[in-house]
Amino acid sequence: MLLDLIEKRKSGRAFSEKPVSDEALESILEAGRKAPSCGNTQAWDFVVVKDPEARAQANTAMSRGNYWAERAAVMILVASRPESGCPAHGQPYYMMDVGLAVENMLLQTVHLGLMGHPTAGWKEDNLKELTGIPDDYRIAAVVFIGHEGSPDHLDEKNKEREKTRTPRKALDEIVHYDKW
Ligand SMILES: Cc1cc2nc3c(=O)[nH]c(=O)nc-3n(C[C@H](O)[C@H](O)[C@H](O)COP(=O)(O)O)c2cc1C
Repeated sequence: MLLDLIEKRKSGRAFSEKPVSDEALESILEAGRKAPSCGNTQAWDFVVVKDPEARAQANTAMSRGNYWAERAAVMILVASRPESGCPAHGQPYYMMDVGLAVENMLLQTVHLGLMGHPTAGWKEDNLKELTGIPDDYRIAAVVFIGHEGSPDHLDEKNKEREKTRTPRKALDEIVHYDKW
């Protein structure tokens, strides 16, 4: 059941520093590339940061609460040019495209026995400058990928978080059949 894989996915914070193989990384990017997008606009670019020096620099742009991400072997900046998204309904569909690509990548990550964590807590301007992302692009998400490791390096709050799963609303709270 694909649902088993979906349920196994979690945004863990206990990363080990073990590298991710190029083969695994390529399959994760491939999963992102195959995502659906509005009008097939494919409004995404993936900037993979994995060189240790580049990673160390990029780590300085993370918000304080995301200190745990420093240990993850791979950082993928998902960049998008808002104008390149589908214009339907005047809605920012580039964000939908990016979201679908990110979830595809996360599921392939879990399938490979690795851990992925999407984030929004970082300084966009700093990351853009460090990686040369053009001015007219936004960074929509930063995804950390790596092997799961010991929670020993986490603070107490995050150690506790690793032991539990995040709750979800019940289906009957969010599903409306035929009428709201
Ligand atoms: C767009 C987005 C941004 C997020 N930003 C952060 C973040 O900056 N730091 C963090 O620890 N978790 C972040 N998360 C992870 C969420 O907190 C997590 O997905 C949510 O609590 C559900 O938990 P789960 O992914 O383990 O099922 C983000 C998730 C998404 C989708």
